[in-house]
Amino acid sequence: MRNIEWDKFEKDNEVLEYLKNLPRYKNTAIKSTYRRAMFFLNLLYCRLFRLDKPLLVVLVTNNKCDLNCSYCYGSYGERKLKDYSTKELLKIIDQLKSLGCRLLTLHGGESLLRRDMGEIFNYAKLKGFCISFNTNGSLVSKKIGEIRCVDTVCVSMDGTEESNDKNRGKGCYKSAMNAIDVLRQNNIPIVVHATLTRDNTQDMEFLAKLAVEKKFRIQYSILYNHSTIQDKCANLIMSNAEIRETVKKILGLKKRGYPVYYTENVLNATIDWPFPYDKGFVTKKDDDLIKKLKLVPCYHGRLKYQIDADGRVVTCWAHDYPNAPNIKKLGVAKAIKECHDRNICKSCAFLANNEQNVLMQLNPRNVLNVLRTQVTEAIKIK
Ligand SMILES: C[S@@+](CC[C@H](N)C(=O)[O-])C[C@H]1O[C@@H](n2cnc3c(N)ncnc32)[C@H](O)[C@@H]1O
Ligand code: SF4
Repeated sequence: MRNIEWDKFEKDNEVLEYLKNLPRYKNTAIKSTYRRAMFFLNLLYCRLFRLDKPLLVVLVTNNKCDLNCSYCYGSYGERKLKDYSTKELLKIIDQLKSLGCRLLTLHGGESLLRRDMGEIFNYAKLKGFCISFNTNGSLVSKKIGEIRCVDTVCVSMDGTEESNDKNRGKGCYKSAMNAIDVLRQNNIPIVVHATLTRDNTQDMEFLAKLAVEKKFRIQYSILYNHSTIQDKCANLIMSNAEIRETVKKILGLKKRGYPVYYTENVLNATIDWPFPYDKGFVTKKDDDLIKKLKLVPCYHGRLKYQIDADGRVVTCWAHDYPNAPNIKKLGVAKAIKECHDRNICKSCAFLANNEQNVLMQLNPRNVLNVLRTQVTEAIKIK
């Protein structure tokens, strides 16, 4: 699809009218498989020719959230910032496409609070992106018609109703469960993301069993220690020993055949992390150590970036610096380049980052696993 001169529209309402007249993208198993394959071929090309470009981008569409989870690294439930206009968001998406992005993860805050989100999904699919969308689930059943074109939806759910609602808010378990059911009825591949804290590690098996019953993949994440966590919820932070134990339990669930999102080598890399977990990453100055210990190399800040709703570009949320390069000041290309040039991170203990790092590394075992998973996911789409 050719680029559109968005500046010819004065108001967002005119842009929205234009978007509503575009063809509706109907996703199918074949189209989704093709988009996933294109991402992979682009990855092969970048690695073969040693090119660094933003192949995978997490784009935070808005600051607003209808929840205020106690541990939220972005404090989206409390932000008072102005969101991107429709035109601004479309221009960002166009620029990401020209810079080589093929896999776009969209989330907020809560993206579905944007009145234009369905049109943004449709436009991004018409542009040829593979889209993964993360949501707390609250508006999924109301807005399912707008979501149908995406390739994967990730719903947040931390455990049983009691432990989920303790940190995410009353009623959230029911709305996440309802979202899972609606997404299944619509044949959309689902991943459930569970943030593990001191409150809910006992629920890991409950979630794994639910994953089998409801046919989703389960992605457990250890709570990140962001800058405000000590003030917001210090009681939720696990000790080093607890983190190691928890990741061993995830590995145990994987070995018992539950549909755990991570591959065994990624789980082992975190279990064997040779530093305390509050030293979550190592930098260029530790190069010799990284080679000696054979740590998973990091491709964030080379092939993957995250753009927050306030415009900051970071390699991953572990480097969520207030003075990060900002697209509002520098434009998308320059901010990404500056993030790339400033990056000194080389390896980390974060499960989600490493699952993508081993793929970007083209580790044969992980590549095979990802290809199998991606085809299995894509053929769910009808
Ligand atoms: C920031 S939310 C945005 C999307 C949507 N509002 C949601 O909750 O799914 C994306 C994911 O980050 C997780 N998350 C938030 N704070 C976290 C933290 N401190 N550590 C680990 N994961 C966190 C949430 O649970 C959610 O699964
Ligand atoms: S629903 Fe998501 S964005 Fe909103 S406060 Fe919770 S974790 Fe943060």
